[in-house]
Amino acid sequence: MSTSARHHLEARLGDRTASVCVIGQGYVGLTLAAACAVEGFRVTGIDVDEGRVDALARGELVVPGVEEPLFVQASESSSLRFASDFEDVATADVVVICVPTPVTDHRPDLSMVESAARQVGERLRRGALVVLESTTYPGTTEHVVAPLLERARFRAGRDFWLAFSPERIDPGNIKFGLRTTPRVVGGIEQDSTDLAAAFYGSVVDNVFPVSGCRTAEMAKLLENTFRMVNIALVNELAVLCGEQGIDTWEVIEAAATKPFGFMPFQPGPGVGGHCIPLDPTYLAWQSRRDTGRPFRLVELAQDINAEMPAYVTRRISDALAERGVALPKARILALGVTYKPDVGDLRESAAVATLAQLDRRGARITYHDPFVPRLRSHGMSLRRTPLTRANIEAADAVVVLTPHSEYDLAAITRHARLVFDARNALHQRGDDRVVTL
Ligand SMILES: NC(=O)c1ccc[n+]([C@@H]2O[C@H](COP(=O)([O-])OP(=O)(O)OC[C@H]3O[C@@H](n4cnc5c(N)ncnc54)[C@H](O)[C@@H]3O)[C@@H](O)[C@H]2O)c1
Repeated sequence: MSTSARHHLEARLGDRTASVCVIGQGYVGLTLAAACAVEGFRVTGIDVDEGRVDALARGELVVPGVEEPLFVQASESSSLRFASDFEDVATADVVVICVPTPVTDHRPDLSMVESAARQVGERLRRGALVVLESTTYPGTTEHVVAPLLERARFRAGRDFWLAFSPERIDPGNIKFGLRTTPRVVGGIEQDSTDLAAAFYGSVVDNVFPVSGCRTAEMAKLLENTFRMVNIALVNELAVLCGEQGIDTWEVIEAAATKPFGFMPFQPGPGVGGHCIPLDPTYLAWQSRRDTGRPFRLVELAQDINAEMPAYVTRRISDALAERGVALPKARILALGVTYKPDVGDLRESAAVATLAQLDRRGARITYHDPFVPRLRSHGMSLRRTPLTRANIEAADAVVVLTPHSEYDLAAITRHARLVFDARNALHQRGDDRVVTL
């Protein structure tokens, strides 16, 4: 590509006259689209879900977790429009793909990335920058996305620029958002890296360019695998500590006083959300595909985390038995069913998996969650129970699975016969009505 084409795009990025298409208006894509619009770019948020597009166009924030002030500001800026067709790609300077990358039948499912890339490839214009943000295994940008964009007419790096930049956003995190979380970018050649860095530099404070797409893809998998494996480590430790009569949480707190070389992770019913439990599967799958070797730590950690709902259930059963109550027929009131506090996301929720175990063992389950009026999962169909004093008193055990910050756990404990605190949310010791994982 000519130097003047590069300068042209740099100039348009610099004075914010560049037009941007963001493909996929979920949590990741909508946040980016809104941030770009607020920054002054002309943005089209494209999604195949027409209902979602219509609602967003009406100004309804139908995507949980996206910052409302950001969305309102972007909607009012008149720089942001939404579409269910891909027509605006034909005139876009920058196209960012943020579609889901789930795991289907225990393997990476890139069907939505492929479909989005195909649609973009049919319309892409010479001199545009395309960035993939969806989490995936190394090689996807070069070997899966590039050929679909190139088709017969273009070559990546010659006719358009191509990069990978992983989204690292942490739902519900009020300290680190899109702007304050540093960005890793890696292009298929240096100009692609530089232009992607220039684009993200307009909406993110710190950009960290790396030597290529595969490094950027792998960095994302390392981050999430690191988290998943360390959670498995403390979960296994929690099981051992439970057997040895040692307070796991005190152990972690003590270890965390070391000012270097240690980072605390908390045990619980498992890992949830649609990133931490699934992204390491991309790594493990690629290792087996390309080397024939398992990625042992990932597979072991997945097994350990998967056993936690059964372990939590056993501990609840033991705590009830000590009070003369058998788990079958015991009335359990579960607090919080989403995968983490203060978000409304049920995907891969270990709290739900724990409820399913309790259900299977014959317990009579009710639940409360401010975000979930109705729970249909694992063959259960439950309606939210009001969190009244009578309901708390009637339960044989109140089980804290996901401690949303609106819960007054101290007040709940005063009326409960037994509280099983799977997250150490109460930090309560010495009260024999409170049992901590
Ligand atoms: N949510 C997070 O916290 C997070 C964090 C980091 C990375 N990621 C990664 O970012 C990617 C997107 O995640 P998300 O949470 O925003 O997903 P999401 O499920 O919230 O939204 C994805 C959107 O993409 C749309 N879509 C699907 N196929 C499409 C297509 N072919 N063309 C256009 N739109 C299409 C869907 O209708 C949906 O609205 C995934 O790879 C995910 O792993 C997510």
